[in-house]
Amino acid sequence: MRTSRDGLHPPCSTVYETGPLRDVTGTTIRPGGLTLTDRAVKLCSFAAGAQLLDVGCGAGGSVEHLLSRYGFDTRGVDISPSLIAEGLRRNPELPLSVGAAEALSYPDGSQDGILCECVLSLLSEPLRALAEFRRLLRSGGYLMLSDMYSREISSGARPDRYLRETALHMEIEAWLSENGFTMLLWEDHTPLLRELAAQLILAGASIEGLCRRAAGTGGKPGYYLLVAHKE
Ligand SMILES: C[S@@+](CC[C@H](N)C(=O)[O-])C[C@H]1O[C@@H](n2cnc3c(N)ncnc32)[C@H](O)[C@@H]1O
Repeated sequence: MRTSRDGLHPPCSTVYETGPLRDVTGTTIRPGGLTLTDRAVKLCSFAAGAQLLDVGCGAGGSVEHLLSRYGFDTRGVDISPSLIAEGLRRNPELPLSVGAAEALSYPDGSQDGILCECVLSLLSEPLRALAEFRRLLRSGGYLMLSDMYSREISSGARPDRYLRETALHMEIEAWLSENGFTMLLWEDHTPLLRELAAQLILAGASIEGLCRRAAGTGGKPGYYLLVAHKE
């Protein structure tokens, strides 16, 4: 299996399948649980029955929530067969499938919204994934991202490198704008990351890998939520 620089976050890591992170997070494997999902969805003017895709959906916690709470026609895709199987064991009705963010098998312009929670910075080719999101979204469709980021300025590495090692706000914004997205919202939610780190420590787990993910850029780890729409 290919391994990322910090050795803790390979593209399909068992860290997300079992162990302390799962014990602490349950079916939503990220800081903040459904809080940021709800916040993002409320900012997008989705019509009833809107078509949404959760990329890197893990065990399908958000997919289940978007279907049951909002009635959106939501699907989920994740590279981990084990997480998809877990989601289907929990709820066999969930439309979950195995697939890679960088090569999604959906038609151009087929989605009203794409959700990608705590995934982008793990990818070895994040710009390819973003290009896929753009391809799949209809014009005016919404991109909802949340992820780790680096809260400190460091000098001029390429955006794809930054994205892989936790990006700076300005790089993410620049890339989105260069690719025809308008940023509607950027919010710092680092307290949710701190909360998760504290829960992991209390559960006796190490947070070294979490910190190193941001330290690769010389920055301090942070967590963001952004909503953009395709022009
Ligand atoms: C931190 S977990 C977040 C899972 C889910 N979004 C959630 O918040 O519960 C990261 C997820 O990204 C998935 N992943 C990693 N690389 C991927 C790729 N190339 N394509 C699709 N999913 C990927 C992992 O399998 C894992 O489920």
